[in-house]
Amino acid sequence: MDKVRNFCIIAHIDHGKSTLADRFLEITHTVEMRDMKAQLLDTMDIERERGITIKLQPVRMKWKGYELNLIDTPGHVDFQYEVSRSLAACEGAILVIDATQGIEAQTLSNLYLALDYDLEIIPVLNKIDLPAADPERVAQEIETALGIPKDEIIQISAKEGTNIDTVLDRVIEKIPPPHLAGLRKKLNILDDSETKALIFDSVYDSYKGVLAFVRIVSGELRKGQKVSFLKTKIETEILEIGYFTPAYKPSESLSAGEVGYIATGLKSTREARVGDTVYRGKDRMNAAPLPGYRTITPMVFSGFFSTEGADYPQLRDSLEKLSLSDSSFSFEPTNSIALGNGFHCGFLGLLHMDIVQERLEREYDLDLIITAPSVKYEIVLSNDEVVEISSAAELPDLSLVKAIREPISKLEIITPKEYLGGLMELVTKRRGSLKNIEFLNEQRVVIHAEIPMSNLVTNFFDRLKSISSGYASMSYEYSEMREDVLVKMDILVAGSVVPPFAQILHRSEAQSAGTVVVKKLKEVIPRAQFPIAIQAAIGSRIISRETIPAYRKDVTGYLYGGDVSRKLKLLKKQKKGKKRMKAHGKVDLPQEAFLSILKRDE
Ligand code: GTP
Repeated sequence: MDKVRNFCIIAHIDHGKSTLADRFLEITHTVEMRDMKAQLLDTMDIERERGITIKLQPVRMKWKGYELNLIDTPGHVDFQYEVSRSLAACEGAILVIDATQGIEAQTLSNLYLALDYDLEIIPVLNKIDLPAADPERVAQEIETALGIPKDEIIQISAKEGTNIDTVLDRVIEKIPPPHLAGLRKKLNILDDSETKALIFDSVYDSYKGVLAFVRIVSGELRKGQKVSFLKTKIETEILEIGYFTPAYKPSESLSAGEVGYIATGLKSTREARVGDTVYRGKDRMNAAPLPGYRTITPMVFSGFFSTEGADYPQLRDSLEKLSLSDSSFSFEPTNSIALGNGFHCGFLGLLHMDIVQERLEREYDLDLIITAPSVKYEIVLSNDEVVEISSAAELPDLSLVKAIREPISKLEIITPKEYLGGLMELVTKRRGSLKNIEFLNEQRVVIHAEIPMSNLVTNFFDRLKSISSGYASMSYEYSEMREDVLVKMDILVAGSVVPPFAQILHRSEAQSAGTVVVKKLKEVIPRAQFPIAIQAAIGSRIISRETIPAYRKDVTGYLYGGDVSRKLKLLKKQKKGKKRMKAHGKVDLPQEAFLSILKRDE
């Protein structure tokens, strides 16, 4: 164990995590230059296109007689729990900060997490080759804000390969071996008679079934052994065991302190959950699982519908397939008058939702309509029972509702100070409350705030970027469910409620939201022979109203010239229209009307 080092790289998006990882692979001759390209291409399309890496494959490298295991942490707040499990599998972290940018929101949130796990931090300033780099200023910022002495910071260029060896040397020197730190030390594990391994990631492989990525905390795992998962209670056999080169490299065993994978033959990653404990020992019924496991539940919801109704079975099959490899999204059938059959899906966050959407569209060739994202609510009923809902349509009869709770997030924004005013206004306008404002240096500030999650999922990030000309960064984390004055806003068309248009809102927001919705509908609902009232209401109180005026009596009046047949046609159409109105007893709502309200703004 003395010669093993387990570490991860934490960085804000684009600060150079993947580039640095590539240099590590090269300098340690783990992957030869000629194979580098293939390695780089081995990521999802969406990651490549957006220039973000959601997750890198773990890899074992050799450096000066040491075994270095690099475990990646997903670079996005949506995956905070997974980040925490990856960190728990390590004893140290390389903190990469872009020397042209400085500390960003995600740098901070990941660093705090890493410190929670007592990881040894190796600070690195990247991109020093760039003319815009200002290592002195950023190093000072790191010292002031994070308390890391300036002279400990290694200045590198991941692109040009400058000082990469120094970073690896520092990993060996500063990061403790597995028995002296991390989980093993925390749990005070002294003997290896019982085997426990932490699952820090799991993937589905169509040949090998579910592969659980594990960090062995105590004992040893061997091929062919029977093991159990302490949380899901599943028992399985290790069909294959190995480590990452970064390709899967089978071996005979993995022992305490090491990182690798086990092939379980299981059919879905739901059965090998991130954070669960692989166990082998005398007493699996009473063995204590490794700490930190959580069942993660979706936070953001939206409807997925195929533009072609006929694709519904295909959509269902694709979602099922996708869920084998992604256990954190949920889906259940739903039906919409306008959009037909579809699925109500739950995600960890907006990026997660985008990833699933894009994978469905690309890998499964589906064309989708996605409804505007919403969050979950807790409804306290008059008998004190609490139910969870994720759309206004599920709201029970209001006379039975005692209170409604909504999810609140902790929010951190880092911004150049000139945008502070604008961003504070954005936060408060969205019902956020400012907690604290801290200067990182003379130029840049951190805003600590709390904000309802419902107001984060509706293009908050885009607003933040536009207010700050792209310079501000943010990270958020769910903190709690909190009661507030939340109301159901109904939309009435020609006097009757259209259920799919209902929304749950804070009372203070209902007025403006109502005005927007009725205006939008006014534009897309065609005129009828009578005026159509479009109203937004809370209970029986109308808060906003627009009226679509009736057609003129003689619709042919618009046409001049004497084309009789055309006139007749128009009159006939009008008559048919009248019949349909009668038949429905209400206004025909075109699909466009539903889309204008329900669809997610691109
Ligand atoms: P995500 O994939 O979004 O998590 O970003 P990342 O942190 O993995 O960053 P990545 O390695 O993809 O680098 C982001 C951009 O910065 C790329 O265009 C890199 O080529 C560039 N880059 C990374 N390191 C350096 C460096 O040392 N110097 C220069 N000039 N550019 C760099």
